[in-house]
Amino acid sequence: MGTSSSILKNQKETLEARLKELFDEKAYSTALDKDQRMGRRIHGVDLKKPLNPEQAILMIDLLDHYSIISFPEQGQPTFELGFLERLANHFGAPLPHPKNYANYVEFKKSGEELKLLPKDKQTRSLCDKAFPGNIKCIDGAESPAVYVVTNLPGSGKNEEEQLASGLHWHTDIEFEPVPLSTSMFYVQCVPISREHQNGTWVPDVRPADGFYHPDSNKDLNSRRFDLPLNGETAYADTASAFEDLPKEKQKELEKTQVRRRLRVSDAGWLTPLVYRNPRTGRQSLHSPVWASRGKNVAPVQIDGFSETQTREYLDELEAHVLQQKYRYDHLHQPGDVTIWSNFATLHNAPPVKSKICSPEDARLMYRISCKGEPSYHLPRKDTDEWLAANISPPYQSNI
Ligand SMILES: [Fe+2]
Repeated sequence: MGTSSSILKNQKETLEARLKELFDEKAYSTALDKDQRMGRRIHGVDLKKPLNPEQAILMIDLLDHYSIISFPEQGQPTFELGFLERLANHFGAPLPHPKNYANYVEFKKSGEELKLLPKDKQTRSLCDKAFPGNIKCIDGAESPAVYVVTNLPGSGKNEEEQLASGLHWHTDIEFEPVPLSTSMFYVQCVPISREHQNGTWVPDVRPADGFYHPDSNKDLNSRRFDLPLNGETAYADTASAFEDLPKEKQKELEKTQVRRRLRVSDAGWLTPLVYRNPRTGRQSLHSPVWASRGKNVAPVQIDGFSETQTREYLDELEAHVLQQKYRYDHLHQPGDVTIWSNFATLHNAPPVKSKICSPEDARLMYRISCKGEPSYHLPRKDTDEWLAANISPPYQSNI
């Protein structure tokens, strides 16, 4: 029997062979960062083409093994977001973003009929107004499943530049009973201008005091605030961080249940802190943070612990996960499709220019997130009951 590292090496060699066999003899993959166990750049795959079931299985396997996979040069300007949405459906059922609707709050409260934002209020239209004739959103940006991550709305050549700090370390939608499994970006524009003094896009702008709990340890805060300054998405590898813990600590964590909820007044439900990937058996820490989005999402509570005990326990884990050896800052390039596992990573949005007066500072990316089981054949076969319970706003891709 091989050691776990030799088994892993064999699995990775097999993945490389399947990549060539199923896509193209010239397809290959490279580490996103040679110092990290997480992350792979996959060359020679054209995501404009539909995947056959064997190719879809390989995609899921690649993400299961590497936690972040990035596909460069996806054919700008001919890429359409329908291609990304089709790809997303293999990983899970797309979860549309409430901000794409005109009346999501009223829909939730009183069952009002759900309406999409009128065309002139859609993020896509606001983006197109910023630098007309220069930057225009690609086709498919109007899909309810697409969340536009950008600094274009409200920007323009006569506007004043504004800066925004990074956010909390978090996992996307970890607070629902079926959490998001996967998120993905397609990148259209990345900033190319540089701030003069230190050669980065933005200065190291920090959030106001009180962003994190005042009793947070100094070392933990310095790790939290150590964010990239060129518009990169910051990631941390919660699978390797778990793997490196002493066996005793792993056993203790495996027994730990966390109460998750959206609002403090919600009863919430218990979920395991350690996620076990059902396909590989690989374990990872699922969102090991106490308060992931300040006041927007209620802090979690460990079953049987007080609020302070929970915070101290999770702060220690967050400090472990945010060590440099588990961190990877992904520098986006136009044409990239980048996919990450929400079960095996934490991430953070970087400090940005949130309003810009030059198209060189534009950051324009499209995110689709999904949940549930992978599907190697499309269309997916999610039942009406499952969709009603887990996909809100209600949505199914037209594929
Ligand atoms: Fe996020």
